Amino acid sequence: MDQAEGLRTLMEKSKDEKNSCPVFSDKKGESIYPKGPRVISVSSGKGGVGKTNVVANLALAFTRLQKRVLVLDADLGLANINILLGLVPRYTIEHLLLREKSVSDILIKGPGGMSIIPASSGVLELVDLNESQKIFLLNELDLLAETVDILLIDTAAGISANVLYFNLTAEESIVIATPEPPSITDAYALIKVLSTKHKKKKFTILINSVRNGQEAKEVYKKISMAVDRFLGSLSLDYLGFIPFDESLPKAVKQQRAVLELYPQAISSRSFMELARTLLEKAPANGSGGIAPFSWKHLLPDHQPLEKVEGVN
Ligand SMILES: Nc1ncnc2c1ncn2[C@@H]1O[C@H](COP(=O)(O)OP(=O)(O)O)[C@@H](O)[C@H]1O
Ligand SMILES: [Mg+2]
Repeated sequence: MDQAEGLRTLMEKSKDEKNSCPVFSDKKGESIYPKGPRVISVSSGKGGVGKTNVVANLALAFTRLQKRVLVLDADLGLANINILLGLVPRYTIEHLLLREKSVSDILIKGPGGMSIIPASSGVLELVDLNESQKIFLLNELDLLAETVDILLIDTAAGISANVLYFNLTAEESIVIATPEPPSITDAYALIKVLSTKHKKKKFTILINSVRNGQEAKEVYKKISMAVDRFLGSLSLDYLGFIPFDESLPKAVKQQRAVLELYPQAISSRSFMELARTLLEKAPANGSGGIAPFSWKHLLPDHQPLEKVEGVN
């Protein structure tokens, strides 16, 4: 079967599945994602809080735990992860979306053997994907489903349509906050939009750049109190924290993952622990703890994704 035929089959399959699996959760709020690779998005609301470093190091940590990892740089108009890892891709997601290259042509290998779908730099058209680009991208990702255990999605900052979209395609959403107040309010704003406008009910909170666990818990508490008070019953899981660590920016300057360059650094050890925790905590959703690649059948039920003004 050639690729085009594969895509057509996938599109047909998605039409069939549309009726049986049209929404992200059933009436009880239980997930009904079909089985497939585990999909985790990492987002934050505010920029510069450590998303790309979390994705890169978590991806590397998963490879050390014998998982096959794919990283999607979903900060589509501003390549990020390849710069952080000192990789220079020949082709990017732009070539894929222009249908000039296939997904396997644009994949690059990163540390630990992770695969990366690199973003483009300065391509404004990619900042808001249209519906057919979204379906095409998901179809292309589906082609990789059997070669991947975990897909990590590094999103852009803010609450753009793309950010919301990638959060909705992932069953698990890790939201990062730091002790800085803007990062806390922006994390809350992201959760608010995803839960009130798009019915996403489960979030995992990771606190970055803290002195210790106590400070992390305080930040988490601020978010969870606001959520309890204003958003009602959401599942807000505390995942853990990454300490502030000077080795991390040192590694960034050398365009390497801190876990690769300084494996004994405190943040590196936290990334390994975080990966282990996530593997132990497979989502209890009856689908074997695995989220899907076959997302495209979910698209017709999306509410329009709106940009929320006033949040960067
Ligand atoms: N745990 C940490 N300790 C020290 N510095 C950090 C930590 N996490 C992030 N940083 C700093 O923040 C910068 C931005 O991180 P990055 O992962 O690019 O954020 P984002 O992807 O959210 O914009 C890094 O280059 C680094 O200097
Ligand atoms: Mg980033």
